[in-house]
Amino acid sequence: MFDTKYFSGAKKFWYNGKLYKWDSVNIHVMSHALHYGSSVFEGIRAYETDRGPAIFRLQDHVERFFLSAGTINMKIPYSKDEIIEAIKLVIKENKLRAAYIRPNLFFGYGNLGLIPKVCPVELVVGCWSWGAYLGDESLETGVHALLLNRRRIHPSQMDMRAKIGGMYAQSNIAGSYARSLGYEEAIFLNLEGRIAEGPGENILVVKKKRIKTNNENESILPGLTRTTLLELARDSGYDTEIGPITIEELLGADEAFFTGTAAEVTPICHITDGSIKEKLTTDWKKHAIGSGKPGPITCQLSRKYAEVVRGKDPLYEKWLTLVYSTPAEAEKNLGIKEAEHLTKY
Ligand SMILES: Cc1ncc(COP(=O)(O)O)c(C=O)c1O
Repeated sequence: MFDTKYFSGAKKFWYNGKLYKWDSVNIHVMSHALHYGSSVFEGIRAYETDRGPAIFRLQDHVERFFLSAGTINMKIPYSKDEIIEAIKLVIKENKLRAAYIRPNLFFGYGNLGLIPKVCPVELVVGCWSWGAYLGDESLETGVHALLLNRRRIHPSQMDMRAKIGGMYAQSNIAGSYARSLGYEEAIFLNLEGRIAEGPGENILVVKKKRIKTNNENESILPGLTRTTLLELARDSGYDTEIGPITIEELLGADEAFFTGTAAEVTPICHITDGSIKEKLTTDWKKHAIGSGKPGPITCQLSRKYAEVVRGKDPLYEKWLTLVYSTPAEAEKNLGIKEAEHLTKY
């Protein structure tokens, strides 16, 4: 009934403390979250390393998960350590060497008034093999994005640091709109008319070798990949800056890229400016960012990121959580033969 066409390698999920086969059904159709988006979630990745899969910035993701839950008054019936163990278990049980991991806390079946008075807080953790969010080739070739007229939710309306399910309706609508017009991704402005973010990605710009991004005051989810990239940039000798990004700064940047756990580091090579509402779509102007090809600093940092997440630089071990206690245990569970340890990267 539930095939895994879009969930490659998924065999089991974890739900309220137990493991279930991927195609089992556990949730009532009158669950609160299904109707009102009253859920919070995380998107996490584990990468293959030579010691088995390692989860990238797990502790930080779990901290954000708790912060998100707090913003919609959810009392989480698990500790951070229990959630970490559940995540590791799911990766093991699915026998994956690399995975996209999706924990989701939601108000379940109870009442269906807007206030979930008697709805239990339920936790599900799933994982599967998921390539780059904007397509594997996007990491190499970059994307053409549409700058929307639509304004991102403002921090005076919602706490933008939280990943609340319902808030993603806006991402869904904007992302679908951009794709329906042939673009690979959308970019939101904020209420002040400056650059906010993509529907599921942050934006970094490079100008004269200086790397800049914005923060939650500018209507963004302050992503973890973004801070990873800022640290890698500084360690590679670049100056970095956090501050508002104007439309002119983005369109006039030497380089620009999206960051996100799902999107990783995706170069933005062209942007069509659809932010002037009165114009017909045929009047929108297409701008090349820099040379219109992935820029050298973007490529350098993207390569570094790919190495770091795969445990190839001891300096950044602090960000890795190994799923298995020993390489031997990983080998036993995954059936990895010696030669297979080496990934294609
Ligand atoms: C709206 C939005 N912005 C930015 C990001 C990037 O955040 P992170 O790098 O923590 O994955 C995400 C992804 O989680 C997102 O959903």
